[in-house]
Amino acid sequence: MKIIETKDYDALSRKACEIVLQTLKETEKPVLGLATGSTPEGLYQYLIQAYQSGEVSFKDVTTFNLDEYVGLDADDPNSYHYFMNDKFIDHIDILKENVFIPNGMAEDIEKECNAYEEKIRTLGPIDLQVLGIGLNGHIGFNEPGTSFSSRTHMVKLKESTRQANARFFASIEEVPTHAVTMGIDTIMESKEILLLISGSHKADTLAQLVNGEVSETFPASVLKNHPNVTLIADEGALEKV
Ligand code: GLP
Repeated sequence: MKIIETKDYDALSRKACEIVLQTLKETEKPVLGLATGSTPEGLYQYLIQAYQSGEVSFKDVTTFNLDEYVGLDADDPNSYHYFMNDKFIDHIDILKENVFIPNGMAEDIEKECNAYEEKIRTLGPIDLQVLGIGLNGHIGFNEPGTSFSSRTHMVKLKESTRQANARFFASIEEVPTHAVTMGIDTIMESKEILLLISGSHKADTLAQLVNGEVSETFPASVLKNHPNVTLIADEGALEKV
């Protein structure tokens, strides 16, 4: 895993943007894997700026998001559909039909998961997957204990994850109990992975990733088995490494 250190969150976001832009320029029909959470927001802002300044177009880009809450529709401000549209998709020239996010409102969730896998198989592989990390090492919504061979599936969220994400909701009761997420094996099939970790509240998580073993008890550790991962971390996140 290649580690890039940055001074702060802004520098992390700028560096991440540089790497994404490089992939977009080098690839004919790029397929990006995208993440939600607060960490990639700065990256999306820089990408929007790059689009507005004419440096890049997203007309030939396809995107696959990692995950979505079960039971929230696209108009719900807390859904990841809404987040992506609000923070990124609505501000660039990507074609809506090339934007894929799991449908947490599907009547048959298992069918939805299989269809999502099929879409990635048909339109992929993902050239560059952007990832954040949960405090307990989750990637996407793959919680500790998830099999490394998992594919897109429905998960029951850990209470700690619901608590951590409650800041976006009016109350903890409103945080969904389940989500659909790309599996760990699905993520690992991306050609390249860009992992972003920011802030001293993630320092223990990053120390565990760097110093700990590869184990299903800490999902992000699987990334050590991937041949092409770049981790960008800022000084706060690196405090305990
Ligand atoms: C959620 C998302 C993850 C994200 C994590 C961390 O659980 N499903 O994809 O990495 O939050 O979010 P943040 O970047 O806000 O710390």
